[in-house]
Amino acid sequence: MRRHLGPSLGSLLTCPMEICPSTGSAGAGLLSLLLVTALSSPSLQKSLPAAYRDHRGPQRHTGLIQCGEYSNQVLPNGLCKIVATLPQGDEQRCPDMFRCTDEVSYWLHENEERKWQVLELRELVSELQEELRNHRHHIKILELQHEEATSRNHSLAQRVQDLEHRYSEASTLQHIQATLLYDMQAQLNNISVPTDGAWHNPACLRPAEMRLQEETHHPDVKHARNCPIDCASIYYNGVRQSGVYSIMPSLGGMPVEVLCDMDTEGGGWTIIQRRQDGSVDFNRTWNEYREGFGDLSGEFWLGNENIHKMTNQGDYSLRIDLEDWNNKHKHAFYQVFSIEDEENSYRLHVDGFSGTVEDSFAWYHNKRNFSTPDSGNLCAEICHGGWWYHQCFYSNLNGVYYKGGRYSMKNRRIRGPDGIVWYSWKDTDYYSLRKVVMMIRPRTFRPHISP
Ligand SMILES: *[C@@H]1O[C@H](CO)[C@@H](O)[C@H](O)[C@H]1NC(C)=O
Ligand SMILES: *[C@@H]1O[C@H](CO)[C@@H](O)[C@H](O)[C@H]1NC(C)=O
Ligand SMILES: *[C@@H]1O[C@H](CO)[C@@H](O)[C@H](O)[C@H]1NC(C)=O
Ligand SMILES: *[C@@H]1O[C@H](CO)[C@@H](O)[C@H](O)[C@H]1NC(C)=O
Repeated sequence: MRRHLGPSLGSLLTCPMEICPSTGSAGAGLLSLLLVTALSSPSLQKSLPAAYRDHRGPQRHTGLIQCGEYSNQVLPNGLCKIVATLPQGDEQRCPDMFRCTDEVSYWLHENEERKWQVLELRELVSELQEELRNHRHHIKILELQHEEATSRNHSLAQRVQDLEHRYSEASTLQHIQATLLYDMQAQLNNISVPTDGAWHNPACLRPAEMRLQEETHHPDVKHARNCPIDCASIYYNGVRQSGVYSIMPSLGGMPVEVLCDMDTEGGGWTIIQRRQDGSVDFNRTWNEYREGFGDLSGEFWLGNENIHKMTNQGDYSLRIDLEDWNNKHKHAFYQVFSIEDEENSYRLHVDGFSGTVEDSFAWYHNKRNFSTPDSGNLCAEICHGGWWYHQCFYSNLNGVYYKGGRYSMKNRRIRGPDGIVWYSWKDTDYYSLRKVVMMIRPRTFRPHISP
């Protein structure tokens, strides 16, 4: 009978246990057991199960039936040889030697398995620890990555914000720059026009006040040679031909194109109004009367602003030339003529009448405000023109151009007389003149007598 013992048993008992079958020639069922041991039985005994430790008991206890013999001897190689002789006979039982070894081997086996299990567990534990370490490491990395991402995100957001800030700053600056550029261009434009004039008339660059002073103190005016402030200046500059010229009113502003009359009564006249064919509508707004309108080569109004500036840069006279539809000419002359500024409604100052027609202007319109159909004056509305209306007029030189002279309210949707009227000539409000010219000249103007 051969027990199979686990291979690990050898490591405990240092040698394989050999069970010698005794059923051979001895015939006594002798079973020799060679137990190879390292002579460490005492320590071995303790760890063996109780059944094994007691196996020598039956030998010593007298009065008990002997069931076999054991002998042992130390072999020359130091191993211990145990020989068990088992008795014959079926009734008597031998000490359960094999049971003992069974148990030993069982426990050894168990032990071994436990050991293996322990080892496996240890291995498992260490594996788990390893894994745990890996997990921890992984988590750490993730945490770091997250931190990094967050900070990067933060710095990214910061940079975006910075960029936005800078962008808005830049666009503000750009806007300011554009505005400045625009202003500069406008100023350049404003400068270049007078400069063009000054190119031809360098004296125009002198301050307006200086030129005005010279004009006042030296009526016949050397400076006018260089910088005309009206048609009289141009006349003094030697020009004797009527036409359109550029002047620079000394009260400032832009050069103005004007039509000069160098023929009438010695010349030097700056024409401020002309009617001659009805080609220009004089039923205009306040702003249009302020800036002027029409065409210098035809009909026009020079503009209240220009008239104001010119008639306030010195003392001016006014001449009005009238022509009816029978080609008759008459004129009115006013020694004093000026109008105030816009703030004062271009109020009229006219006095010192003389002429070939009765006055229909100064006596009635002097000191009246200028008004236009859109300025809230009923007379201007009715009369369809801009004028220094009173209640409403004795003259209406900016009225409606009626061809043929006589006109009536019949068949026209008008509420009152609105023609180009000089009442004291035709003694009616319903005769519209054919031609009108209004022109101004310095009161001190003296024409040069040509040789
Ligand atoms: C980064 O910012 C975006 C938008 O503000 C947000 O959706 C995202 O969750 C942020 N990521 C981190 C890692 O903070
Ligand atoms: C240019 O001249 C006009 C008219 O005199 C004036 O209204 C405007 O303010 C001037 N512009 C500049 C930029 O000087
Ligand atoms: C004058 O102008 C006003 C406003 O534009 C217009 O209603 C009216 O018909 C005009 N009248 C004449 C006679 O041109
Ligand atoms: C004329 O105009 C001035 C200022 O514009 C104003 O104070 C005054 O009342 C006006 N006169 C009349 C008669 O409307």
